Amino acid sequence: MPEFKTVRGMRDFLPEEAHVMRYVEAKEREIAQLYGFKEIMTPIVESYELLSAKSGEEIRSRMFVFKDLGGRDVALRPEFTASVARLVATTFRNEPKPFRLFSFGSIYRYDEPQKGRYREIYQSNYELMGSSMPEADAEILMLTDSLMKSVGLKKCAFKIGHVGILKSILDQEKVGNKAQNAAMQLMDKKQYDNALQAIKKAEASEKCIEILRKLVELKGTKTVEIINKVKELVGYYPKSIESAQNLSEIISLVCAAKGKMNITVDAGFARGLEYYTGMIFEVYVPDLEIALAGGGRYDKLIELFGGAQTPAVGVAHGIDRIILAMQGQKTAVASREEKTAMVIPIQDEVKGEALRISETLRGQHIRVEVEVSGRKIANALENANRRKLDYAIIVGERELKDGAVVLRNLASREQNIVKIENLASIIRNAEMHSD
Ligand code: HAM
Repeated sequence: MPEFKTVRGMRDFLPEEAHVMRYVEAKEREIAQLYGFKEIMTPIVESYELLSAKSGEEIRSRMFVFKDLGGRDVALRPEFTASVARLVATTFRNEPKPFRLFSFGSIYRYDEPQKGRYREIYQSNYELMGSSMPEADAEILMLTDSLMKSVGLKKCAFKIGHVGILKSILDQEKVGNKAQNAAMQLMDKKQYDNALQAIKKAEASEKCIEILRKLVELKGTKTVEIINKVKELVGYYPKSIESAQNLSEIISLVCAAKGKMNITVDAGFARGLEYYTGMIFEVYVPDLEIALAGGGRYDKLIELFGGAQTPAVGVAHGIDRIILAMQGQKTAVASREEKTAMVIPIQDEVKGEALRISETLRGQHIRVEVEVSGRKIANALENANRRKLDYAIIVGERELKDGAVVLRNLASREQNIVKIENLASIIRNAEMHSD
């Protein structure tokens, strides 16, 4: 037999890693509840047509695509947004708006594996659908900031832009959608010269190219100043000014709610996904060059999927990268507090009684394992010690006659004879004192 390994880009999560993952997931769930987002669960496999419709070339080319046994073209979801938009365009069509929908799970992208870049990725996804108001955009930014703080991350920086600033210029210049998308993909990769070449080729005016060249240089943390400069620069394109104004309203709402935040406005900022129509953003921490989260406004996707006109804004938090950032900042993760006990029967005749005691303790919410390997007492204790359990509950005929067992603290090696009915409270009390 060959030595089996995980498929390239796929990872196992060992107990400690799984614990951290679930810890962050619990924080995400808490944020979802606090902001009124209801969880939905959508399939990992969706039709290729749905997933590829507006995902953009970058993601489209990295999807895990295959034919199912019925000959359908399907793919593993590379994100949640398309699935949530499908649901809102169909099943939720007549439900009252707005929708606040939360999802947590794995997505799949054939990215080149490296630090912080995997092929099976965990995302926590929030979509607010049915509002075009800047307060909806602000809410998505706010909940992202709250999440980063709640997992203990410091110095989170938001990079914010607005697709409308660039797109309105290109629309007015009659640059077709295909050329626009190609230019945006290049901008996403920071290949500004190539992007401008592509726009030039699509017959945009010289003046437009000149403005765009200046525009992509406009970025900084003095958000009001930068946005004013953008407005001045794009004066000839009224819709572009409107977009800049919209961005300024969103940022001022977020700052009103959150106080000082580390925000960089970047007028040349573009994201790989094609469905964005408005504000877009990503979140970073110092010493990690990859985004921990990304999102933005997409007002046309639900319509494109056959639904009613439904403006929407959302974000996906990349859990794997949030965990990397937490490790980098040595952020504490709450450990498992509950103590664990192992019940060890020392004669065959008391096995039934040992199982009964473990069931009683579980009924009282004590975590219990039973020795199931037939080990003799010394070996069983050594094994429990190596596996870092806290207590051994040794069940023997002699103590059972008095309704008791031996409770041994595996770390201190202290042991006492304890009545069965007192076991749970003694273990629980020790838990409280050890905190
Ligand atoms: P995205 O920027 O493609 O947006 O992904 C969001 C986050 O997922 C990234 O910021 C990153 O943390 C994580 N991520 C993406 N690819 C990888 C990878 N290969 N390895 C590790 N982490 C990764 C979206 O997915 C949009 N659906 C967000 C959205 C929701 N926009 C509107 N609503």
